[in-house]
Amino acid sequence: MTSQPPGEPAEILLRGVEKRFATPDGEVHALAPTDLSVRKGEMLVLLGPSGCGKTTLLRMIGGLLAPTGGDLRVAGRALWDGERRDGAAVQELGMVFQEANLFPWLSIEGNVALPLRLRGMSRAERLRRAQELTRLVGIEGFEKRWPRELSGGMRQRAAIARALSYDPEILLMDEPFGALDAMTRDAMNLELQRIWMETGRTVVLVTHSIAEATFLADRIVLLSPRPGRIDTVIEVPFERPRPLALQTDAAFQAIVRRLRSRLEEIS
Ligand SMILES: Nc1ncnc2c1ncn2[C@@H]1O[C@H](COP(=O)(O)OP(=O)(O)OP(=O)(O)O)[C@@H](O)[C@H]1O
Ligand SMILES: [Mg+2]
Repeated sequence: MTSQPPGEPAEILLRGVEKRFATPDGEVHALAPTDLSVRKGEMLVLLGPSGCGKTTLLRMIGGLLAPTGGDLRVAGRALWDGERRDGAAVQELGMVFQEANLFPWLSIEGNVALPLRLRGMSRAERLRRAQELTRLVGIEGFEKRWPRELSGGMRQRAAIARALSYDPEILLMDEPFGALDAMTRDAMNLELQRIWMETGRTVVLVTHSIAEATFLADRIVLLSPRPGRIDTVIEVPFERPRPLALQTDAAFQAIVRRLRSRLEEIS
């Protein structure tokens, strides 16, 4: 289940990665020792019951939270040395959360280009890059607007553009479309597929939606209830680009049913 094509290093590699939180009420074992390897360019989706450790796992891969055990490698570099993380490895990572988390006092292009500003890129170069990115995510023409002037789906596109701004190899997304209505969510799933196919990035995405997981993923990893451990791994074979109508396909629905019944069994 963690096999790799020979000679090709995993883009993300976890060996026995574990998380225990110390809390005033005692220890919370969020994630059991986990082995996982994500291929370069893969779209991997994490599914699992609420509280099973999906966000915890994503935050550890994203360099936001130190594991309490195991070895975590990103693009061949050890990401964590105890509580210290490797700054160069973090450069390979971009994150998108459930809420777009744009800064309300910055324009859309200001938000998208912020990571570049923090990295010292010139203003002209930043604005050129922001324009390229707003086009990529389909919000060109809105560069000078404020976040509050955009719809939820457009704000989420801006957040994706921001995460891609410094060209990370890996995009980590935690329920990025969870706050959107069903139609906007469908549209965003298509958009994410397009952006992913265009950029060739490695994506790890967390969702609660079995249909979204099946639509987007090359591979779905279903986690058990806390402490999370890998319960089931499903390869999703459908050709790309996948149309939304795929969801009415018998083979698609068979995967959805299999995941749903397994999720019910373990929850
Ligand atoms: N900083 C923390 N301190 C203590 N416990 C934590 C902390 N962060 C998460 N936990 C606990 O770890 C477990 C896993 O949480 P996590 O947020 O990773 O779950 P999740 O799978 O993302 O859930 P959801 O689907 O609801 O987002 C939960 O029991 C949670 O309460
Ligand atoms: Mg979560």
